[in-house]
Amino acid sequence: MHIILLGAPGTGKGTQSKFIVKKYNIPQISTGDILREHIQLKNKIGKRIFNILKNGELVSDNIVCDLVYQRIQKKDCIQGFLLDGFPRTIKQAKYISHLGIKINFVFEFIVPDQLILQRISGRRIHIQSGRTYHIQFNPPQEDGKDDITKENLIIREDDKIKSIQNRLENYKKNNSILTKFYLKEDKLKKLKFFKINGTEKPDTIQKKIQIILEENKN
Ligand code: AP5
Repeated sequence: MHIILLGAPGTGKGTQSKFIVKKYNIPQISTGDILREHIQLKNKIGKRIFNILKNGELVSDNIVCDLVYQRIQKKDCIQGFLLDGFPRTIKQAKYISHLGIKINFVFEFIVPDQLILQRISGRRIHIQSGRTYHIQFNPPQEDGKDDITKENLIIREDDKIKSIQNRLENYKKNNSILTKFYLKEDKLKKLKFFKINGTEKPDTIQKKIQIILEENKN
């Protein structure tokens, strides 16, 4: 199964990814996580990526497409994968489509800007695993610690107000053309496209996605 999650920053793509990949036993490919792994290496490319992310800009299509290509060649992707945060531009969408991979489902998460700001400002992440928490909406069992490893949680460098605004702007600039592309693919019965109300509770959203996936699997 191949699944794409679209949505503005903070709409819950990462949160829902964790449940989908566990349930369907496919890897989560988050371009944001892959880019942050490069930053951790602290090499020249990592430093360039750090500045792009910090300012809330998009990394170039060529770099991101290459990273995704390398990742999907790995063995664990044979049965499928979930793309979280990719594609973000029409060029990226066409790239994945030209690779000849049959995408089964595209979900677009919709959340109003005000709630997005609230969510991102309370987000805490476990950098090593990509697990995400929220101090109010989805708190860890122990304050500031990852539930599984008990390592420290951090605030993402790009979760500052100026970066968030840029990220939202970039999202809006690209999103309508991207959703038009997938709506057309849906009409042509190449895939199934669903809009998800991302303002509901994580569990409620999870159940709705699960029903959609089960009812439309074949
Ligand atoms: P990336 O890491 O992908 O960030 P993003 O798309 O901005 O999305 P976020 O991770 O901020 O949010 P999310 O939707 O996953 O929400 P989450 O589940 O964490 O990308 C980072 C950067 O990398 C980009 O800005 C760009 O620079 C670059 N990049 C990445 N991909 C690229 C690409 N393809 N091309 C070019 N550049 C690229 O939830 C947010 C918070 O809300 C959490 O605290 C969570 O606990 C909470 N929450 C989640 N769901 C709910 C709910 N239903 N109710 C209440 N709280 C909730």
